Amino acid sequence: MATAQSHAQWSSRMGFVLAATGSAVGLGNIWKFPYMVGQSGGAAFVLVYLACIALIGVPILVSEWLLGRRGQKNPINTMAQIAHQHGHHRSWALVGAIGVLGAFLILSFYSVIGGWALAYMRDAIFGSFSGLDKTAIGTAFETFLAQPGELLAWHSLFMLLTIGVVAMGVAGGLERGSKLMMPALGLILIVLVGYGATTGGFGDAAAYLFNPDWTKLDGKVLLAALGHAFFTLSLGMGVMMAYGSYLGEDVNLLRAARTVVIMDTTFALCAGMAIFPIVFANGLDPAAGPGLVFVTLPLAFGNITGGLLLGSLFFLLLTFAALTSSISLLEPVVELLEERTPLNRIGATVVAGLTIWALGIAALLSFNLWSEVKFAGLNVFDLLDYVTSKFMLPLAGLGAIVFVAWKLKQDDVQRELQLGSGGFALWTLLARYVAPIGVLFVFWNNL
Ligand code: PHE
Repeated sequence: MATAQSHAQWSSRMGFVLAATGSAVGLGNIWKFPYMVGQSGGAAFVLVYLACIALIGVPILVSEWLLGRRGQKNPINTMAQIAHQHGHHRSWALVGAIGVLGAFLILSFYSVIGGWALAYMRDAIFGSFSGLDKTAIGTAFETFLAQPGELLAWHSLFMLLTIGVVAMGVAGGLERGSKLMMPALGLILIVLVGYGATTGGFGDAAAYLFNPDWTKLDGKVLLAALGHAFFTLSLGMGVMMAYGSYLGEDVNLLRAARTVVIMDTTFALCAGMAIFPIVFANGLDPAAGPGLVFVTLPLAFGNITGGLLLGSLFFLLLTFAALTSSISLLEPVVELLEERTPLNRIGATVVAGLTIWALGIAALLSFNLWSEVKFAGLNVFDLLDYVTSKFMLPLAGLGAIVFVAWKLKQDDVQRELQLGSGGFALWTLLARYVAPIGVLFVFWNNL
């Protein structure tokens, strides 16, 4: 049991890597990445996205872990303490604060979509898509969104599962949950890609994902790619900083980052190779947008042989992916409450979880009763998404990397990253210039 005196720790290096991968692999990989590829011109988007991951994502990921490991506390206290130790202003704690607040806000609407995944898993298992045509499936999705009671029930169940795992602690909950769910995720995805390979659409899907059409590449695609690199690696949300705070000295951060990034990217690309063959083989639209997973795919599942099993597996995959991410979003908030209030682990988890759940209700009402309640033209759901992904994540991520690259003693950083002089020169180039300028560029464009 974690107490303030003996801070919790991951039980093993592999447990940490799996938990971090679980955080990274989520709705972003399986729901968002394929439809973004579909909307932004296939492989050109994929290549830009990979560049963003390598040049900007990895340095920020490593910086957040490094800070968390040094602080061994929640992101706010970690930043305040390290800044103080190095003679910098305590206002650097803001970087942690924006992160924790970001995690809090994101989980509120992430859980709503996690609830959709649960609901669709039930539908898939009960064969509800079977024989429906395009209009009927579309209408079913709209009807589902129009019922606040339904959405509330599934959002509540999803949040309950999240709270249940997190309440069990770092090694006993987050790590154990990821150790169970991640292998299952991998297995399900292999089965689905294997199915894709048996359809006539596999070649088309591969061409779509891997043959770039550079004419589609413009500033907007670039921004979307970088924004998604942030989201998919769970950066700028206090999540990776919190995960770093449970790390021991023995873990090589760059090596861990390489594993997490390769797994995250593999999951995203495999999700594409599971989804697009079905889309192409059935003559459906790859650019369907957010409805790709909830409308286009069920249409296929309802009309192909083995669709019942494939559909059930697919939505189980989506649910697991969402859950290993949602637990990581709850963690920084729980860590903060645990350390700054008299609440114990379970109390902190319940209080944080219920507060986020309540905010999630406002998010789910944007699809029905409150669809006309708008701030600056955005409903609550879109507003939460917009403010977090366009402003808070880039700011917190930028703060973390600027602090590590410009404010810490660089000799120590080099030792901690276990880099020789050549490797560290490359790190410095990326961490001091490339990554911050990249983020600033995106941030500027968002303004
Ligand atoms: N990385 C997760 C995904 O791709 C989302 C996430 C964001 C999780 C931020 C935790 C923190 O879906």
